[in-house]
Amino acid sequence: MAATAKPAILVARAVFPEVIDALRQHFEVDTNDDDVALTPDELTQRLQGKVGVLTTGSERVDAALLAACPQLRIAANIAVGFNNFDVPAMTAAGVLGTNTPDVLTETTADFGFALIMATARRLTESEHFLRAGQWNKWALDMFAGADVHGSTLGILGMGRIGQAIARRGALGFGMKVIYHNRSRLDAGIETELRARYVSRDQLLQQADHLILVLPYSAESHHAIGAAEIARMKPTATLVNIARGGIVDDAALAAALRDRRIAAAGLDVFEGEPKVHPDLLTVPNVVLTPHIASATLATRRAMAQLAADNVIAYLTEGRALTPLNPDVIRA
Ligand code: GLV
Repeated sequence: MAATAKPAILVARAVFPEVIDALRQHFEVDTNDDDVALTPDELTQRLQGKVGVLTTGSERVDAALLAACPQLRIAANIAVGFNNFDVPAMTAAGVLGTNTPDVLTETTADFGFALIMATARRLTESEHFLRAGQWNKWALDMFAGADVHGSTLGILGMGRIGQAIARRGALGFGMKVIYHNRSRLDAGIETELRARYVSRDQLLQQADHLILVLPYSAESHHAIGAAEIARMKPTATLVNIARGGIVDDAALAAALRDRRIAAAGLDVFEGEPKVHPDLLTVPNVVLTPHIASATLATRRAMAQLAADNVIAYLTEGRALTPLNPDVIRA
């Protein structure tokens, strides 16, 4: 008896070989071994006849793509954020979307803290100074930064990652934790995290170190711009590990240049991998290339979870971390 052809899927970016092997047990797998991000047209072409796709934040799944790929049934994002998915359009087209929550929470919170520390203590600025051969004497105020321990940590966005950062701040560094979120946490969780709910304005005004951990949406676009920065303490630092576009990068660069706040740490940028040129010329900013979840173990777990979602949905009609579960029930 002739073997039935396996359904075809695309893995839009290079992922770990063991994940591809797991997928190949169930599917014909088209891969992008060069790892060059596909243009929307290339993605549409490569998806012809495919029922599933593993994406990253670089690939958009929107109404135009869905209309051109009628066989598609699932798009599994290898990221917890999914602002590259038009979820209502996917639901309307009957395409399931999945993301990778939980597996990256602690790793990403570690990195958030690394950026808070590096920003407050001027880590990269001082390293550049040393590497440039400019260190010829020790001085009492040399690269004097701001204390992290005992200071006030402000968290904008209090989901899983925000809470993991709060825990580190309160329990590890004796920080006073304040937060703002669309919805307030249960009193029990606030007590456990030692976190106090404040208004967005109070958060801006009171934080010594403000970290952004909220999802990107039309509502959070440029949530931090010149007006918000003006409300912050001149000694404050700002860290963004959420998404580019939440901060107005041009306004931030101007504020850093004029020392309206002390420093910033940025892992994400509007229009990345391009970085606003003004940010590259100010010294008091720590810049990293969207690596908050980048440990090998976590990146493997993210890719595996995306693959497991595709396997579970296409072989058994269920998903582990669905974004639009109505598609499964329909
Ligand atoms: C990374 O930015 C993610 O959303 O997982």
